[in-house]
Amino acid sequence: MIHTGDCLDILPRVRADSIDAVITSPPFGMPLDRVLRAVRRVLVDEGTCWLLLDGTPVLAEGWTVGNVTDVGHHERLHRLHPTDQPPRYVAAPLDLTRDHRVVCDRFAPMPEALVTHCVTTSTCLGDLVLDPFCGIGTTGRICSEWGRSFLGIEIDPLRVALAEAYIARSVARVVV
Ligand SMILES: C[S@@+](CC[C@H](N)C(=O)[O-])C[C@H]1O[C@@H](n2cnc3c(N)ncnc32)[C@H](O)[C@@H]1O
Repeated sequence: MIHTGDCLDILPRVRADSIDAVITSPPFGMPLDRVLRAVRRVLVDEGTCWLLLDGTPVLAEGWTVGNVTDVGHHERLHRLHPTDQPPRYVAAPLDLTRDHRVVCDRFAPMPEALVTHCVTTSTCLGDLVLDPFCGIGTTGRICSEWGRSFLGIEIDPLRVALAEAYIARSVARVVV
C-alpha cells in the first residue's frame, strides 16, 4: 500500500512498533533527525533501518550503527538498529561484486540488487517493510517479489502512480 503525502505528516498515523524494517533513500535536504525520530516510533526494537545517503546521519541517542558501506557516487548504505539489543537478523556483508552501485537517473531509484540485499538479510516472509520516500517503488517491488508486505509513502503523485504500476506488474510476474 502506498500513501500520497509528506512522510512527516503520515508517519505519526502509523501504528507504533508495527514495522519490521525500513529501507529508504531520503532526498537531499530532508530533516533526517525528524525522519529518524518518526521512524523509530514505528520500528520494532529488534528491527533494522537501512538508509542510502550522501553523507552521514547525525544519530540521536539509542540508535546503533550496524554497518556502513560505500556504494559509489558518494552514497553510503547505513544499517542502523533502534537499540543496542541484538537485531533479529545479523545481516551478511554487502557483496559489492554484484550490481549494487548507485546510478544517476531522473527518479534516483535505489539499485534493485542493493534493495534485495536489505530485504533478504533483515526480514523474513510476511514481515512489514516501510519506505517513507518510496519514489517509483523499488523497495515495494522487491518486497512483493520476496513475499514481504510493504508500506510506502511518497509526496509526488506521479511517482506514486508509477510505483503502483511497477509493483502491480511485478506481482503479476510472480503470480503468473
Ligand atoms: C531518492 S528518491 C527515492 C527513490 C526510491 N527509493 C526508489 O527507489 O524509487 C526520494 C523521494 O522522496 C520523495 N519525497 C521528498 N520529500 C518527501 C516527503 N516529505 N515525504 C515523502 N516523500 C518525499 C521524492 O518525491 C522522491 O521520490
